[in-house]
Amino acid sequence: MSHIEHLKSLYPLQGVHVVDVGAGDGIYSRQLHAVGAKVTAIEIDPRKVAKARENLPSSIQVKLGAAEKLPLSSGAADLVGMFFSLHHVPSDFQSATFREIRRVLKSSGRLHIVEPYPYGTMFDVVRMVEDETHVRTRSHQLLNGLDRDRGFELVNKREYVLTREYPTFEVFLEKIVLPDPDRTRAYDAVAAEMAATYERVAETVDGRVVLHQPCAAYHFSVAG
Ligand SMILES: C[S@@+](CC[C@H](N)C(=O)[O-])C[C@H]1O[C@@H](n2cnc3c(N)ncnc32)[C@H](O)[C@@H]1O
Repeated sequence: MSHIEHLKSLYPLQGVHVVDVGAGDGIYSRQLHAVGAKVTAIEIDPRKVAKARENLPSSIQVKLGAAEKLPLSSGAADLVGMFFSLHHVPSDFQSATFREIRRVLKSSGRLHIVEPYPYGTMFDVVRMVEDETHVRTRSHQLLNGLDRDRGFELVNKREYVLTREYPTFEVFLEKIVLPDPDRTRAYDAVAAEMAATYERVAETVDGRVVLHQPCAAYHFSVAG
């Protein structure tokens, strides 16, 4: 299952304005654009913004900005998506984030948030340089309690496993550890143990070496 495949089954994406908050390098902005959405990508890290602007199709607008203070006018978006990014927003800013999302969504709009669980083979390896057990647990609690009082109504919740290919430990390092300065600093102390964990948990499926990340997708409408 892919995030966009699932989202597409819930909401028609052709021609609608989708805001991808915490877009990173823009992997899902690109996929949303490919299925016909008009995409604005919002990202707080200027290095990722620069990389996304360099690599994404020019019709995707990439903006430097924060989830808790979205650089968008009110009622501008049909759908706001957050893919594995809510748990990165500091807890003090999460209420403001939901207020901001409510502000930029049309009254017919949708909010789609996918969060990873604190388990799975991907988590087993990543936790050695960044243990997100607490923030991921807190995000799921928050989403399970998000209701009309905050301006949203849960339409659909689905759990699935995101499977990503990392053919070697070196590729995993290049994609997941080295782009992040904090993870890179933590890596030296756990290098051998981390490589051994990757070798132990990585699975070969149809000739591809993969790690699995279980997650839940929460799809909300705007409460009337
Ligand atoms: C795990 S990455 C996910 C990136 C992308 N959505 C993906 O799934 O590949 C989380 C992203 O959220 C961004 N982020 C963290 N705090 C943010 C905030 N307050 N506002 C916007 N983006 C934020 C990070 O810089 C990072 O790029």
